[in-house]
Amino acid sequence: MVRWEIPLLVSGGACALAAATGPSYIEYSTVPGYFLQDLNSTNATAFDYTTVNFGLINQTYPTDPANVASLTQWQRFAIVVESLNANAPKNVDYKVLFLGRHGEGWHNAAETYYGTPGWNCYWSLLDGNATATWSDAHLTNNGIAQALVANNFWLSRIETQKITTPQSYYTSPLSRCLETANLTFSGLPLPAKNPFLPTIKEKLREGISEHTCDRRSNKTYIHNIFPTWPIEANFTEYDELWTGVTAETDGAQQVRSKQLLDNIFTTDCSTWMSFTSHSGEIGTILEVIGHRSFSLNTGAVIPVLVKAETILPSQVTHTISSMPWTPSPHCTVPPVTSISTIDNGCVCPNSAAPVDITLAPYATSS
Ligand SMILES: *[C@@H]1O[C@H](CO)[C@@H](O)[C@H](O)[C@H]1NC(C)=O
Ligand SMILES: *[C@@H]1O[C@H](CO)[C@@H](O)[C@H](O)[C@H]1NC(C)=O
Ligand SMILES: *[C@@H]1O[C@H](CO)[C@@H](O)[C@H](O)[C@H]1NC(C)=O
Ligand SMILES: *[C@@H]1O[C@H](CO)[C@@H](O)[C@H](O)[C@H]1NC(C)=O
Ligand SMILES: *[C@@H]1O[C@H](CO)[C@@H](O)[C@H](O)[C@H]1NC(C)=O
Ligand SMILES: *[C@@H]1O[C@H](CO)[C@@H](O)[C@H](O)[C@H]1NC(C)=O
Ligand SMILES: *[C@@H]1O[C@H](CO)[C@@H](O)[C@H](O)[C@H]1NC(C)=O
Repeated sequence: MVRWEIPLLVSGGACALAAATGPSYIEYSTVPGYFLQDLNSTNATAFDYTTVNFGLINQTYPTDPANVASLTQWQRFAIVVESLNANAPKNVDYKVLFLGRHGEGWHNAAETYYGTPGWNCYWSLLDGNATATWSDAHLTNNGIAQALVANNFWLSRIETQKITTPQSYYTSPLSRCLETANLTFSGLPLPAKNPFLPTIKEKLREGISEHTCDRRSNKTYIHNIFPTWPIEANFTEYDELWTGVTAETDGAQQVRSKQLLDNIFTTDCSTWMSFTSHSGEIGTILEVIGHRSFSLNTGAVIPVLVKAETILPSQVTHTISSMPWTPSPHCTVPPVTSISTIDNGCVCPNSAAPVDITLAPYATSS
């Protein structure tokens, strides 16, 4: 069983969780009823956030004021959220998280180009091919266009819906997310008190597989590209997590994603936040907040309404356990195929021995 201690804060605002002291545990849940993405009936693959107002369901709310006719759905939703927080007990906070997946990177293009078996079992372990680099992949032109779609959509929501824009921004340190966040939020008419200045967070990065696209660049390089963006304290110069030998497991990723949320929820009193991250990491955050599984297309953005409740360790009903990292089998040459029912079940050609023969599951073609 894993427990998280909430640090005592030196400074901080008036938000409930930041004021908590002593041993405690934060339990997260998703508040359903407001977004299409919360409904099992919504098809994530076909979901286009730009055609459905970020998924905000058209409805009336008990908190609608008398002048409701002059307010947009997003303005009325903002009143709902404000009311939830105003009426919440001291140990409860509500936040709206805009979870954005980066636009298409060269690693995504390569997976499409080589097919998933070839990608997972061989090509993903290289830095690139003769014409493309996917180690800490950058955006393709298609990925840039997807980020600009998000930028245009934010602009339209600000102009037509008077949406509340994020009060704080966070991004993964991987290049594809830095570039996506930059393109998505540059040039928007944002309030002067909440400018776009994302904090770079190590724990918002993608699941750390052996793929070179999951290895980040050094801190100096990141800082030089976006010199004004804050980098969280304790962010190391070099990537100390990616090994290329073992891969983070789902359990380990859940634990660090909860640590990420605990850190943000206890230090940042903003209600509206933007996270720019990855499909695997957003999927894991959704698991930690008890959201249905919802796989985002490259460049897609979904908001979620999250309830965080500080409870005593003795009241914890469900816990998350870490799992040790494990190696992933692969081939020394492109594989014949892979067995999709086995995680990384690479089928290597007879002529080439699979890597780490002692580690099941393995198969060679016959
Ligand atoms: C949605 O699907 C999950 C998993 O299949 C199920 O546990 C849950 O009860 C469903 N929720 C609703 C409201 O149907
Ligand atoms: C979801 O949408 C995709 C893409 O449009 C489609 O191929 C798939 O059949 C849909 N799934 C369901 C369950 O309707
Ligand atoms: C709500 O209504 C507006 C205007 O009719 C429409 O553009 C939007 O897609 C609707 N939202 C949803 C989630 O259906
Ligand atoms: C390298 O991979 C990219 C996809 O990332 C692909 O478009 C390109 O054609 C590949 N180059 C070669 C020489 O195979
Ligand atoms: C950041 O975004 C601006 C505005 O779109 C663009 O001009 C600039 O090239 C971007 N920088 C990087 C490093 O992507
Ligand atoms: C950081 O990475 C960049 C780009 O890969 C490289 O040119 C530079 O030498 C590295 N800096 C340090 C301090 O290692
Ligand atoms: C800083 O990071 C190092 C390396 O990841 C870790 O061992 C240490 O506990 C961290 N310190 C704090 C105060 O978070």
